[in-house]
Amino acid sequence: MKAQIAITKGDGVGPEVVEEGMKILKTVEKYSDLSFEFKEAPAGGKVWKEMGQSLPDKTFTIIKESDALLFGAIGIPGLPQGVAESAILGIRQGLDLYVNLRPIKLFDALKDRCPLKDQYIGDGIDLTIVRENTEGLYANIGGIMKKEVAINNMIYTRSGCERIIEYAFQFAKKHNHKKITSVDKANILKPSQLWREIFEQIGKSYPKLEKENMYVDAFCQWLIRSPYDYETVVTGNLFGDIISDEGAFLIGSLGMASSGNIHPGQVSMYEPIHGSAPDIAGKNIANPIGTILSVKLMLEESFKQEEIAHDIEKSVEEALNEGRTIDIENKLLETLTTTQMGDLISEKLKSFLKK
Ligand code: NAI
Ligand code: MG
Repeated sequence: MKAQIAITKGDGVGPEVVEEGMKILKTVEKYSDLSFEFKEAPAGGKVWKEMGQSLPDKTFTIIKESDALLFGAIGIPGLPQGVAESAILGIRQGLDLYVNLRPIKLFDALKDRCPLKDQYIGDGIDLTIVRENTEGLYANIGGIMKKEVAINNMIYTRSGCERIIEYAFQFAKKHNHKKITSVDKANILKPSQLWREIFEQIGKSYPKLEKENMYVDAFCQWLIRSPYDYETVVTGNLFGDIISDEGAFLIGSLGMASSGNIHPGQVSMYEPIHGSAPDIAGKNIANPIGTILSVKLMLEESFKQEEIAHDIEKSVEEALNEGRTIDIENKLLETLTTTQMGDLISEKLKSFLKK
């Protein structure tokens, strides 16, 4: 059976990096039993300019009827604040993608680019942030009164907390993690107090896992002081947004970071965490690895292809030892374009899949 994959190329560097993500999927298709059908699902700033909507109904229908969505990045300078970006919230809310999975893994080959390279980093950085993706301040409940008062309500529901925390415990167990860290602000915020109570309740069913609670402000500095200390980190929407950008900085470049917006068992969306990068768009220099690792997550989470996912990761590691895009360049290695980086990873993958 063919899996249907919706493709949103988006704006700026979006189309350039998505092209490389698709290259990897086509290589997988050629050298495995899997087969894919791609369907364009246009969204973003360019689409807004043409149609007055950043997520046309037709696009949403295509996405809803697919097995997964590969998403580039959207946003065009000069458009009214948020019009393009609202497509992302529309997809996350519309498909109830309550898990935002953000792996923060420093490849051995990239240790030279880690901002902490002169500091002790134990046996490396390899953690995953499991962020709640539909509630909190981003539930967008609020308003502005007389241009004087602005309010957003921080909504945490019991069922919303339970499903994301349960997912995180399952994730930790599946990956043989020893510890799970919950990040909140329970000393001040009521929603965090509900969150912590539920974390402790669910934690009772996982006696083998070490459980840890941290306040978000303290966590921000511990993530820099001892990033090697964390494995699964579960947190709410706002805190997850902030700490995952901090984490992305630790792995060498924003262009390296991948993510999944997931509703287990239903259509889910995979995207690099960077934006449309208008400053480098159209130059064929963007790093496609964040997108390629998002494809890896798609194969792992939506299609349960753990072996192929692992092969993609190994291919990236090998490629990084030979060449780099400009954002992670190393003077001793060849500097590659977006296309060349994708080609090199695809070549590596071919040899793994043929074995
Ligand atoms: P950005 O992530 O687009 O760029 C920040 C910096 O990182 C820039 O210097 C850029 O050149 C660099 N960068 C980003 N991706 C890169 C890659 N793959 N390879 C090498 N360098 C890379 O963030 P910025 O500038 O704040 O936002 C630009 C636009 O993107 C805005 O309209 C923003 O709203 C939108 N945006 C969209 C997102 C999405 O579609 N998921 C996420 C974040 C921002
Ligand atoms: Mg963010």
